[in-house]
Amino acid sequence: MSTAVAVTADEHQQQQLKKGIAEFYDESSGIWENIWGEHMHHGFYDTDAVVELSDHRSAQIRMVEEALLFASVPDDPAKKPRSIVDVGCGIGGSSRYLARKYGAECHGITLSPVQAERAQALAAAQGLADKVSFQVADALNQPFPDGKFDLVWSMESGEHMPDKLKFVSELARVAAPGATIIIVTWCHRDLSPNEESLRPEEEKILNKICSSFYLPAWCSTADYVKLLESLSLQDIKAADWSGNVAPFWPAVIKTALSWKGITSLLRSGWKTIRGAMVMPLMIEGFKKDVIKFSIITCRKPE
Ligand SMILES: C[S@@+](CC[C@H](N)C(=O)[O-])C[C@H]1O[C@@H](n2cnc3c(N)ncnc32)[C@H](O)[C@@H]1O
Repeated sequence: MSTAVAVTADEHQQQQLKKGIAEFYDESSGIWENIWGEHMHHGFYDTDAVVELSDHRSAQIRMVEEALLFASVPDDPAKKPRSIVDVGCGIGGSSRYLARKYGAECHGITLSPVQAERAQALAAAQGLADKVSFQVADALNQPFPDGKFDLVWSMESGEHMPDKLKFVSELARVAAPGATIIIVTWCHRDLSPNEESLRPEEEKILNKICSSFYLPAWCSTADYVKLLESLSLQDIKAADWSGNVAPFWPAVIKTALSWKGITSLLRSGWKTIRGAMVMPLMIEGFKKDVIKFSIITCRKPE
């Protein structure tokens, strides 16, 4: 196959992926919000904690706070973030939380028109319409000038990005000198020096998850670190928080199997039902250590 044809096929695949992601979140965001609220990401829990169903929303807020703490984002009024981008913003839970916490302006982007509209409506309802704004835009081609933001935030959107180098390059491009970049994302385990790829049975689990959650190929935490190093970003730090998110998927499955969950799923659509069906594979992936829940942070040089 000639390179030109290969590139076109690749572009076609990326367009199909973007369409699938947009439709998946258009279809499923309402049911998620109904049951789980405005944050569409894992909660952060003490390892070995006994967790009640009612604890999960505060665990999601804790995830945001733990990420800020890990990245040493300053609370000091003179140094706190003033301009934030929320890349892959869902219905804007993080954007509104961060805008409120820091008194900052926050711009959220998502591929889903339903999410962007709902995020804006929630901002208006919460009196934040002058602080936060949302639009449909591609994280790989962001509609922002270079150096605009002093906090670049990506909470569980990196796993959807088909080109990780382009993804982190865009995060770095829109970051102001000295800005903090925070990526919280699903990764596969790091490969050992004598491995070239995951084992076939591990690939099989990830592939099944990919097709139902509209994910391209996964990468490891070490891959992210290498990419950030290649862009000369500073203070690169990473951690494996898989143990801290363990109670999340069992709780999501439990709510999906409740009366409210089942009736909402049946009313939603095939893409949402297919997503619900692979949720047990997330638990299996974590248990088998092939899935890692990772945070990777860095700073753009001054
Ligand atoms: C699991 S949701 C996380 C939402 C949000 N960050 C949160 O924590 O509530 C993944 C989000 O990534 C967005 N996303 C995926 N690929 C994207 C892309 N190429 N450009 C912009 N947003 C993208 C989806 O539209 C969705 O809003």
